[in-house]
Amino acid sequence: MTAKLKYALIGAGGNAEKKHIHGYLALEDVEAAAICDVDLSKASRMAEKYNVPNVYKDYKEMFAKERPDIVSVVTPNFLHAEITEYALSHGAHVHCEKPLSISSAEARRILEVRNRTGKRVIIGLNNRFTNEAVFLKKWIDQGSLGEIYSAKAGWIRRAGIPGRGTWFTDKARSGGGVMIDLGAHYLDLALYLMGSPKASYVAGSTYQNFVHTTARNRNGYKGIEGGTFNVEDAAIGYVALQGGASLSFDFSWASNIEEDRFYVELLGTKGGASLVNGTLKLFGESSDICLDITPKLKLNPNLQLKNEFRHFVDCIKDERQELIAPADDGLYFAEIVDAFYESAASGAPVSVQNAQSLVLSRS
Ligand SMILES: NC(=O)c1ccc[n+]([C@@H]2O[C@H](COP(=O)([O-])OP(=O)(O)OC[C@H]3O[C@@H](n4cnc5c(N)ncnc54)[C@H](O)[C@@H]3O)[C@@H](O)[C@H]2O)c1
Repeated sequence: MTAKLKYALIGAGGNAEKKHIHGYLALEDVEAAAICDVDLSKASRMAEKYNVPNVYKDYKEMFAKERPDIVSVVTPNFLHAEITEYALSHGAHVHCEKPLSISSAEARRILEVRNRTGKRVIIGLNNRFTNEAVFLKKWIDQGSLGEIYSAKAGWIRRAGIPGRGTWFTDKARSGGGVMIDLGAHYLDLALYLMGSPKASYVAGSTYQNFVHTTARNRNGYKGIEGGTFNVEDAAIGYVALQGGASLSFDFSWASNIEEDRFYVELLGTKGGASLVNGTLKLFGESSDICLDITPKLKLNPNLQLKNEFRHFVDCIKDERQELIAPADDGLYFAEIVDAFYESAASGAPVSVQNAQSLVLSRS
């Protein structure tokens, strides 16, 4: 029997408990060895609850003592690049939460270290792993939509400001507001489904209309009263894609709408698709009649087309397997986000630095 892969979790906050610890504990060929958090009480509480033997306050000490094969990086965004680079250089494969980094310069550094060390990096883009997204990607890749010429993506909330006054609303630690938080999921998903075409330019605006009210906090995310709130609560814009396709987007943590909506809508020459609040519909025509198709992806609750954690471990064990959410896509996304913030600041469209030539492989 081959040895189990040794796993450590860095950052024992909300997402680590909701997602990563369960994902890795469920895998038979992985052994959870340690949890690390600057707040040792958080690491200890989680370690006790999930029966993980070792806790650390300092991730460097954790690497020295544990030498893990895989780590999750689930810290505030500004630490993703620093910890990912350190982990790669110390022999670990990295499952880094979204966004991969808070700038394209950081993402480029991560790719350089990854390419040098030969370790693998996956981004925690769980919206690429839903049954709907996995099926839709296949449907698109087999040509069912024809050429996608237009797309819309968004995630608009009525009252969804996370962690007001915590790192989420402090630009130095988050890298930005709703664009980098929810855009990292649904703008990413639209671009991924379209096949990650190179971007020509981005035009957009940011807004900050809900800084002074607490009526728009997300449930369970009260935050810290009086804490910094210097990021946008709405991000609206347009990406022009090389080849002529257009993508408009609309993200808000808070807005005066009837109900929340998260969506990707794709228009192709042969068909269309909409994924709205988790429901997938496909549109087309046949025998001179317009046709709607509703895939039955929720009939069997045990039907999971892809598991993010299983997929990553399989890719580590077999380097020929292509990652569904490689670090390369984090650089691609960061370049678009950099251009978006520059456009919002200048009030003019900004061309995107497509550094995709740097991307050596989708590993
Ligand atoms: N994929 C998703 O759907 C999803 C959902 C929520 C959050 N996230 C991402 O997960 C990450 C964490 O978000 P969260 O909601 O769990 O935040 P959180 O604030 O609840 O948790 C972050 C944890 O990191 C710890 N930390 C800070 N500095 C550290 C360091 N130097 N070493 C070790 N630990 C450190 C904090 O003490 C805290 O416990 C973010 O990047 C966020 O964007 C992703």
